[in-house]
Amino acid sequence: MRDKIEKILSELDNVKAQTEREVEDLRIRLLGKKGEITALFDEFRNVLPEQKREFGQILNKLKNAAADKIEQLRNSLVDAPVSSGSKSDMTMPGDPFELGSRHPVSITREEIISIFNKLGYAVSEGPEIEDDWHVFSALNFPPEHPARDMQDTFFVTSGNDNPILLRTHTSSVQVRSMEKMPLPIRIVCPGRVFRNEAISARAHCIFHQVEGLYVDKSVTFADMKQSILLFAREMFGENTKIRLRPSYFPFTEPSVEVDVSCNICKGEGCNICKGTGWLEIMGAGMVDPNVLRACGIDPDVYSGFAFGMGIERIAMLKWQVNDLRHYFENDLRFLKEFSTSF
Ligand code: DAH
Repeated sequence: MRDKIEKILSELDNVKAQTEREVEDLRIRLLGKKGEITALFDEFRNVLPEQKREFGQILNKLKNAAADKIEQLRNSLVDAPVSSGSKSDMTMPGDPFELGSRHPVSITREEIISIFNKLGYAVSEGPEIEDDWHVFSALNFPPEHPARDMQDTFFVTSGNDNPILLRTHTSSVQVRSMEKMPLPIRIVCPGRVFRNEAISARAHCIFHQVEGLYVDKSVTFADMKQSILLFAREMFGENTKIRLRPSYFPFTEPSVEVDVSCNICKGEGCNICKGTGWLEIMGAGMVDPNVLRACGIDPDVYSGFAFGMGIERIAMLKWQVNDLRHYFENDLRFLKEFSTSF
């Protein structure tokens, strides 16, 4: 028995392992149910009583030494680079992989949404391929109304009384929401819109809008003004002022165009605001009673305001980008300029 113990001890001194498998095999061979050390413990029963103390001690030592050695071999495998005979140098630095960043239009959209979320507005979305009813008719554009010419439309089908088209504004989502949502409604509707326009620094055939809508009992023009002022301050800085100019949209009455004080020159006049001190950011107004009626809402009980803004336009003003086309060309040098705060 003493010989067997000596033999195992000297083996433990010299043993090496390259793989987890080899370590595990060693453990099974020595300490497993039928392992050599386990067998020695069985033999221990036959040791003469006067030798039991001595053998007991060396056997326990052997068992601990084997367990320590196996643990040590296992740890050294985790730390060491695997040299599996391949020619690769595992100590070489890895290939860097570049982190992407969010697109400025997405960053701006998320920022607009989060401001209105704080005011209690939920997000509502609708289809990009729409029908004439939701884009025009329900929004109080009569068939021959000249306002239809304001928005050059891509038609998918034509000829019947409710043609299918690519939506020219997200105001269509107001209609869908008023048709199906319970009142009161307080929503923002972000989305892509399409217009048949020549591409230039200031116009594109595809762009993004966020529409807003609040319908409840006794919603007033003052509520609208205050909500827009709050948005403008959150978006462009707390000293931002707003200015409302009378305007016309078929779906709102009265209608306004909203300007914010130029955040570059602080209202002094510069080339971004063309010397006026003001920058236009959105259209807005009180929802026309005809629109409420078309969506099944009684205008004698409910009133509301709506607004709509171009996301690219807001992003251009926020970051002083002077050409809308940058947002669509995906030039990485441009895209990397934007932080990923959202
Ligand atoms: N739909 C308008 C556009 O595309 C923007 C707009 C103006 C939306 C006034 C509104 C609004 O909801 O009240 O130019």
